[in-house]
Amino acid sequence: MDSRPIGIFDSGIGGLSAVRALRQLLPGESLIYLGDTARMPYGDRSAEEIDRMTGELTTRLLRQNVKALIAACGSISCNAGKTLSSLPVPCYDVVTAAAEAAARSSKTGKIGLAATEATVKSGRFAGEIEKRTGQAVTAVPCPRLAPMVESGMVPDDPALAAAVAEYCKPFLRDGVDTVVLGCTHYPLAATAFAAVLGEGVTLIDCAAEAAKAAAEALKEAHLLAGGTAPAAPRYYFTALPPQPARLLARRLLGEDFTPQLAKPGDKG
Ligand code: DGL
Repeated sequence: MDSRPIGIFDSGIGGLSAVRALRQLLPGESLIYLGDTARMPYGDRSAEEIDRMTGELTTRLLRQNVKALIAACGSISCNAGKTLSSLPVPCYDVVTAAAEAAARSSKTGKIGLAATEATVKSGRFAGEIEKRTGQAVTAVPCPRLAPMVESGMVPDDPALAAAVAEYCKPFLRDGVDTVVLGCTHYPLAATAFAAVLGEGVTLIDCAAEAAKAAAEALKEAHLLAGGTAPAAPRYYFTALPPQPARLLARRLLGEDFTPQLAKPGDKG
């Protein structure tokens, strides 16, 4: 039994889709969230930059005495392997569990991946799926999408819906039956994807899959808090999200969402 908090991090509000799943799966756990809003998007950065910034985020969270970490970001999961593999606590990323869920769900093996440029360029996410299906993945970089969600755009916003429709064209062309939302911002726009792709295409939420896998692993490792009343989740950001993004976050979480400013220069 371990009552220390779980740390969850992302470039911005996208990782809250992992928090939503964790709140349902592990209501007894204390959660600390850190979003690097001031430097978002990560998706157009180099692997070196993403790895360095991930080191700063994980250092901050480790100073909060976390027992485990969740890299609730596809771009970090695919580009910060150096940092993520040298942490002193268990760290779960969004790739493996989502790749497994996609391979399980697909009947034809034709799978699409919607993700940031950094994720697609790394080849890691598509590679993990291809390893399981033996078929090429239709991987589509969606560079405008995470910043749109981060600004608080709702899924039926015409600009967001138009961007999603454009990004989905290769999926429709290739007749995929499953699309992995491989950036944690995209589950906040899931209904826009569903509207374009239709009922025949299953959407895999990489954040929810990561949360499920982490919950399972923490249980097996006897690292759950068990019995103690958890502290309310704490949400830290390097820049406070704008009001529309706060509303979107509150709607996603279905509960109170009070972002706090992470102190500048607090790099551990
Ligand atoms: N939420 C992030 C991801 O899963 C990154 C979005 C961004 O900062 O570009 O890739």
